[in-house]
Amino acid sequence: MNHRQENNFLGALQQGAADTTASMILTSILYLAKHHWVQKKAQAELDRICGDGRMPTWRDFRDVPYINCIVKEALRIRPVVPSGIPVRASRDDYFDGYLIPKDSTVFCPAYNIQYNAEFYPDPCTYNPDRYLDRPLLATSYAGSPDYENRDHYSYGAGRRICVGMHLAERTQWRIIASLLWAYYIKPEVDEKGNELEVDTDTYEDGLLICPKPFKVTFVPRGEKHVEVIKKDFEAVKDYLKSWE
Ligand code: HEM
Repeated sequence: MNHRQENNFLGALQQGAADTTASMILTSILYLAKHHWVQKKAQAELDRICGDGRMPTWRDFRDVPYINCIVKEALRIRPVVPSGIPVRASRDDYFDGYLIPKDSTVFCPAYNIQYNAEFYPDPCTYNPDRYLDRPLLATSYAGSPDYENRDHYSYGAGRRICVGMHLAERTQWRIIASLLWAYYIKPEVDEKGNELEVDTDTYEDGLLICPKPFKVTFVPRGEKHVEVIKKDFEAVKDYLKSWE
């Protein structure tokens, strides 16, 4: 591989990693703005563990299980790659009595699977509670021999499953946990101060999907929270400057 190929490869990898994770975090923000009860539930857990004196960290993962439910439900209801990434059958194969000829293109369509009411009751409803009995990261369910009881298929399946899901899971958890600890996520208001309906159905089309631009308001949860946000920002300001 020459330098140009290497750069292109790493650039594509970096973009694939950032775009997918950013899309999922935007989906969570969009749905959270519409579902106050979900925020309340997560914030009750966060407050119990972190109080108002510090932000959550990855070490709190087990003690604040509802954030993991929020991450999973976003991945289920709006998988970034709804159709999955196509793969080629390397030989003739059979599934359920159907021949899949060598060289066929095969999809593992996360969207269809995750809207199947047999496995995900009331699939059109955003409800992180459905994951209360799945307290582990997606990596644990994807790596389990009990493959029919996965949490979701948004990282794909089989040999070509997303290799970045370890990082993706942690990034989503840390960002959603910090946002919910620090802010109430509120819908946009009109000139009279009335909250506008949040539209969770407006997405950019494509192999990868992402919510179309939307407006919400981040309201700090209290004076102490503001102090912590400022203090934490001061601590990393110089570090962040290296990317300016
Ligand atoms: C929420 C975030 C992410 C989602 C939903 C996601 C989803 C996916 C999906 C559906 C695939 C195709 C899997 C298949 O064909 O079965 C994939 C592949 C891949 N992902 Fe991710 N991804 C995410 C984040 C990341 C991150 C952070 C990285 C890197 C640090 C990454 C690196 C890759 C790579 C290298 C592949 C190709 C694997 C292969 O073909 O062997 N992804 N991802």
